[in-house]
Amino acid sequence: MATKTEPWLVLSLLLMVISFCMQHCVHGESQVPCVFIFGDSQSDDGNNNNLPTSAKCNYRPYGIDFPEGPTGRFTNGLTAIDFTTQFLGFQRFIPPFANTSGSDILKGVNYASGAAGILFETGKHLGANIYLGAQLINHKVIYSKIVIKLGGSEKAKQYLNKCLYYMNIGSNDYINNYFLPQYYPTSRSYTPSQYVDILLRRYSQYIQQLRQLGARKYIMVGLGLLGCTPNSIATRMTNGSCVQEFNDAASNFSNKLSSLVDQLNANFYADSKFIFINSTSQSLDSSLGFTVTNAPCCPSGQNGQCIPNVTPCQNRSTYVFWDSFHTTQDVNRLTGTGLYNAIKLYLLG
Ligand SMILES: *[C@@H]1O[C@H](CO)[C@@H](O)[C@H](O)[C@H]1NC(C)=O
Ligand SMILES: *[C@@H]1O[C@H](CO)[C@@H](O)[C@H](O)[C@H]1NC(C)=O
Ligand SMILES: *[C@@H]1O[C@H](CO)[C@@H](O)[C@H](O)[C@H]1NC(C)=O
Ligand SMILES: *[C@@H]1O[C@H](CO)[C@@H](O)[C@H](O)[C@H]1NC(C)=O
Ligand SMILES: *[C@@H]1O[C@H](CO)[C@@H](O)[C@H](O)[C@H]1NC(C)=O
Repeated sequence: MATKTEPWLVLSLLLMVISFCMQHCVHGESQVPCVFIFGDSQSDDGNNNNLPTSAKCNYRPYGIDFPEGPTGRFTNGLTAIDFTTQFLGFQRFIPPFANTSGSDILKGVNYASGAAGILFETGKHLGANIYLGAQLINHKVIYSKIVIKLGGSEKAKQYLNKCLYYMNIGSNDYINNYFLPQYYPTSRSYTPSQYVDILLRRYSQYIQQLRQLGARKYIMVGLGLLGCTPNSIATRMTNGSCVQEFNDAASNFSNKLSSLVDQLNANFYADSKFIFINSTSQSLDSSLGFTVTNAPCCPSGQNGQCIPNVTPCQNRSTYVFWDSFHTTQDVNRLTGTGLYNAIKLYLLG
């Protein structure tokens, strides 16, 4: 039997498919080609799993609301940057540097490590971690692979110009360094204001190194209310209220980071863009459904993390905190939405 398809039929079927697709298909294209993530436990998605440290969480009940269960994310479900990359249209989460197998590194890599800080020694009383300087070294390894993939450093840099560089670090330089004088001498050596200057001088040196590897679009995240975590409240025995000293230090750091961002924008106005994200601008209270703001959803041990295999609270969406340090997925969704809106406004297009 001869089959001769009418050209008009092919065309109209094609148009129907296209119009259906424009309404319903998930587009393969993300709004930026790549995202590289630097940070601590708020962004870690598995880098600490095989490190000798107590700052890891690849056990239940972490990941109870994550499709694959525990993955090394310090929350019940997705992290804030997970949400942001989803909103940007990425089909898969940005893989941890510790395991990029089966992933396309051209879409980005996550270097974040629980307990890590800007300073090498931060968090080391808990065991190993990948501090910001080592995250940069790991990025150089990925950079070299991208140079080979794309056929030269000029082509690699041109490509990497278009990526986002998300940097959310510094909390541990306080809670796992400066405010633990039994382990670290920093608070005896430096006033709070000298300490911020040391942290930001290092931070800005790492940013210069990133620029040399083609980074142009930066998201610099300020610190949250470090004195309001259940861990801070419990260890300082404040009878339920936030630890003012911790919040002041965090806000000093964030104020100066925000000035640094202005300064970097002025210095590199011709070719780079830095945005500052204020992590304390959103108040999380009962108006958003968060009725429990100062207790963790999962019963936590001495180290502030969930006790392995413990049963967490049922209504997780009413809790700000998942364990004694880290926020729940519902808080992370709000944070991730704020990040996405800022990126769309200032870094896209
Ligand atoms: C590495 O990542 C792949 C793809 O996401 C996953 O299937 C595999 O289980 C991971 N391996 C390890 C050792 O985590
Ligand atoms: C702690 O809070 C409880 C309940 O609000 C109150 O009864 C108690 O007096 C407080 N204790 C101190 C030392 O402030
Ligand atoms: C915050 O900054 C002010 C002014 O620079 C300083 O006096 C204060 O000691 C700082 N506090 C903390 C906790 O960093
Ligand atoms: C962040 O937002 C809070 C609340 O609106 C504000 O008090 C603070 O000054 C802001 N911090 C920075 C560094 O912009
Ligand atoms: C959890 O949810 C149930 C039912 O919605 C409610 O009765 C209970 O008060 C909630 N518990 C907390 C701690 O919010």
